[in-house]
Amino acid sequence: MAKMWAGRFKKETDRLVNEFNASVSVDSRLYREDIEGSMAHAAMLEKQGIIPPEDGKNIRAGLREILKDMEAGKISLTPELYEDIHMANEQLLTERIGDGGKRLHTARSRNDQVALDMRLYVRKEILEIRRLVLEFMEVLCEKAKDHLETVMPGYTHLQRAQPITFAHHLMAYGNMLKRDVRRLEDCLEGMDEMPLGCGALAGTTYPIDREFAAEELGFSGVTDNSLDGVSDRDYCMELCACLSILMVHLSRLSEEIILWCSWEFKFVELDDAFSTGSSIMPQKKNPDVCELIRGKSGRVFGDLQTLLVMMKGLPLAYNKDMQEDKEAVFDAVDTVKICLQVFSPMFATMTVLPENMKAAAKRGFLNATDCADYLTKKGVPFRDAYKISGTLVAMCIEKGETLDSLPLETYREVCPVFEKDVYEAVDLMACVRERKSLGGPAPEEVARQLEKLLKFLREKKEAQS
Ligand code: ARG
Repeated sequence: MAKMWAGRFKKETDRLVNEFNASVSVDSRLYREDIEGSMAHAAMLEKQGIIPPEDGKNIRAGLREILKDMEAGKISLTPELYEDIHMANEQLLTERIGDGGKRLHTARSRNDQVALDMRLYVRKEILEIRRLVLEFMEVLCEKAKDHLETVMPGYTHLQRAQPITFAHHLMAYGNMLKRDVRRLEDCLEGMDEMPLGCGALAGTTYPIDREFAAEELGFSGVTDNSLDGVSDRDYCMELCACLSILMVHLSRLSEEIILWCSWEFKFVELDDAFSTGSSIMPQKKNPDVCELIRGKSGRVFGDLQTLLVMMKGLPLAYNKDMQEDKEAVFDAVDTVKICLQVFSPMFATMTVLPENMKAAAKRGFLNATDCADYLTKKGVPFRDAYKISGTLVAMCIEKGETLDSLPLETYREVCPVFEKDVYEAVDLMACVRERKSLGGPAPEEVARQLEKLLKFLREKKEAQS
């Protein structure tokens, strides 16, 4: 087929170049955004008297028909026929309505067109991903509700450190996800500018009304510099940065679930519907979903890297390199969405095994700090108390005892300040209950954290409806 730019060229494009240059197999996903943007553009051209009213109406009616046919899968967008989605829509329109279709591209370039399409797409997907994150947060809160008193070991260096509760642990993730929501919203707010009207790079001589198109498309304003408007992909990088951080969080939780599922921990058991078996080992029940999420996080980081490297050397304004933005953004969005979609039900159906958590919390001297704190509260300087507690732990290890079972005489041999009430101080549940400092694991304090997060979720829900 003759190229749109055939006037300037004496030769046909090489077949391989055609294939290499075409992006329609990737950007056909933007057909809705492209049509939506073109409708607003046509409405603006008509309102400004840049194109005749009949053409404006025909263009919009034609685009509506094309959209319907696309949704019905009646149009095949192959690279042999079309270079990209923008050319495809214009060609299809012209085939259908004739000269009116040829007027659509007045005062517009594919450069501001694609910049608009991508913004429309990213805006839509941010809202969807935010919804999925909020949904997952709800699942987290629901689980946490049942486990305010479920004591488990808290770890540093993956060594048992101090006692916490399962709800406390989950609230940590709740707070991470809350920040993810904030970052996504921030990205949305920052990109709320409409680039159409920047033209190829230097605006246009036509009397366009950019604000009108912005309003039609639901943007708060327009991009303020035409060079920047066509070459800005900050919002793509920002989105991928947000998604990368979100994937870090999902990956860390996945890693923990993988550990918790192992016989070494056995803190949780995944539902059969969310586990997989082995082709050879009959006993296996594997947390493949978590492993995939952990693995797929790498793709999203890679997508961010792709965009950063793609952009960093580009002179203003548009360069074809930027066509590569789509695959990276689409992949990051697809990956994050599927991860969240599968994580929520997997987490909701996971069985928690409080007895095993408690048994683990009983070993490993999680109450050694509390033992030291006991002495400190009786006037012993913390550094001395710390040393005494350490000595007691060493004795316990030697004798096969725990701080709960060590006889009072032994305690008093090491430090005469100890009295009978030390057993209350090192009692596991007491250790948790007394950690009621703001942010701590005490059930009443975690209940406060939980209520705060639930309030956040309620407010988001109300704002959505
Ligand atoms: N397919 C192109 C892209 O995605 C559209 C813009 C083309 N602009 C150009 N000047 N060749 O970037």
